[in-house]
Amino acid sequence: MIAKGGQLAQEEPPALAGATPLLASRQQGSRAAAWPLQDFLEFGALSGSVPCARYHARQILWEWGLARLSESVELVVSELITNAVSASSLCDRALSVRMWLMSDKARVLTLVWDANPDAPLLIKPKSDTETGRGLVLVNAVSAAWDWYPVPGMTGKVVRALVTE
Ligand SMILES: Nc1ncnc2c1ncn2[C@@H]1O[C@H](COP(=O)(O)OP(=O)(O)O)[C@@H](O)[C@H]1O
Ligand SMILES: [Mg+2]
Repeated sequence: MIAKGGQLAQEEPPALAGATPLLASRQQGSRAAAWPLQDFLEFGALSGSVPCARYHARQILWEWGLARLSESVELVVSELITNAVSASSLCDRALSVRMWLMSDKARVLTLVWDANPDAPLLIKPKSDTETGRGLVLVNAVSAAWDWYPVPGMTGKVVRALVTE
């Protein structure tokens, strides 16, 4: 079973294995084999980056012939980039957020890096507030999600897997 929302243990959950960006280059070969379709884009840590990232994801999924997953992936992208931008604003120096999209032609993995080392928290939203729902939505539309600190670098990656 794949745990949702926890920090990665020593071993990666199988469904997410091989999809760790920013690690040593010797791992890149196996990652490319597992996820032959890959896209990367860096955005300013600005609220205007949220619709840009969402639109970009839609175009990429269309190019990959995966438009059927677009609704869920766009929602994931929107929520993860929103959170990354917001977390970046708490850092002294956080100019960008980074997004990877990867696919094996059936599933889409979205990974978002931001410079803030703090963990994302799945919180139960209060019924009368608009906030605190982003990760609840990500949790609902994804088969798995988690986060991990990036060795040798500040910040962390939050990632979510969307399947058919
Ligand atoms: N990328 C992130 N970096 C640091 N903390 C995060 C990140 N994403 C989410 N969080 C934490 O998890 C909480 C819940 O996120 P979310 O469910 O998206 O609700 P909201 O963004 O409305 O607070 C946030 O309030 C924040 O404390
Ligand atoms: Mg949020």
